[in-house]
Amino acid sequence: MSTVQVDDLTRRFRSRKGREVTALDAVRLHAERGEVVGLLGPNGAGKTTLSRILTTLLLPTSGSARVDGLDVVREAPAVRERIGLVLGGERGLYGRLTARQNLRYWGAMQGLTGRRCRSRADELLERLGLTARADDRVETYSRGMVQRIHLARALLRDPRVLVMDEPTSGMDPHAAQGFRGLVEELRDSGTTVLLATHDMQEAQALCSRVALIDHGRILREGAPKDLLRGLRAPRTVTAGGVPAATAEAVARIAGVTVHGSTPQGHLTLGITADGALSEALRTLTASGVHELSVSSPTLAEVYRTIIEDREFAL
Ligand SMILES: Nc1ncnc2c1ncn2[C@@H]1O[C@H](COP(=O)(O)OP(=O)(O)OP(=O)(O)O)[C@@H](O)[C@H]1O
Ligand SMILES: [Mg+2]
Repeated sequence: MSTVQVDDLTRRFRSRKGREVTALDAVRLHAERGEVVGLLGPNGAGKTTLSRILTTLLLPTSGSARVDGLDVVREAPAVRERIGLVLGGERGLYGRLTARQNLRYWGAMQGLTGRRCRSRADELLERLGLTARADDRVETYSRGMVQRIHLARALLRDPRVLVMDEPTSGMDPHAAQGFRGLVEELRDSGTTVLLATHDMQEAQALCSRVALIDHGRILREGAPKDLLRGLRAPRTVTAGGVPAATAEAVARIAGVTVHGSTPQGHLTLGITADGALSEALRTLTASGVHELSVSSPTLAEVYRTIIEDREFAL
């Protein structure tokens, strides 16, 4: 049994005007021990709804979700002991309390008592590099520090599963990088992470699998590299200092499309067939071209192709 197992999970909401919204529509998903699984999708796709159901904050309309084999509805208290939720932004912390006070408060709320609660709070402050500022009010913290407290709070009971809902949104690149390092450490120590994010680079860097979700449905799911393969997105080669004759020779290779060329010998090529890349590179280097770069398609392109094309089609 997977650490997280979601089967045919459906959640409907009725809006104030009485219109029904299907936030999740028969979602199936699983995550194994020590795996980071990404949830990618546009605003309103259902990512937060799924995060809330998994962490027992919201009930599903139908279907099931299990954490560590436990049902999130029927065994909610036991699930809560095994799962932590990391939210992005300011929600859920007391700004006028210090980091240490926040953690002790939340520890007590989560059933940790006395000395255990205090030592766990101190341990996490240390681990997340917050000890020096632990007795300052949270409202004086930077975004990156606030996020680390969110993470510390989620870790109080040493959960097997962490659900992160846009944990790095609004963080500067350096802080976000630091946060990702923490996620990697947790993953490597066996924690299972579900990561809802709008940051494709983050997803590509951290996730062993991603699910692309839109209008409550999983449109595609798999390892980033498999999704890239499925995409057949053309690779791009750019070259400088290309002699005219070489440019012509390259243009004749099957599977090579010239996207741009300048009289100065700057060339941009799209590669659409297997084998064309190596032949193009061979032809270019054989004629002494050394200003070369090859770019691979990214998860962002997979997302664009699957989600944005779908939006245009709707
Ligand atoms: N409490 C609620 N009442 C009514 N509709 C809701 C409620 N919560 C969510 N929804 C609707 O469910 C759908 C999914 O919302 P959800 O917040 O899960 O999306 P999301 O993928 O997290 O989006 P974002 O990227 O903007 O955070 C949306 O149409 C939303 O309006
Ligand atoms: Mg959301």
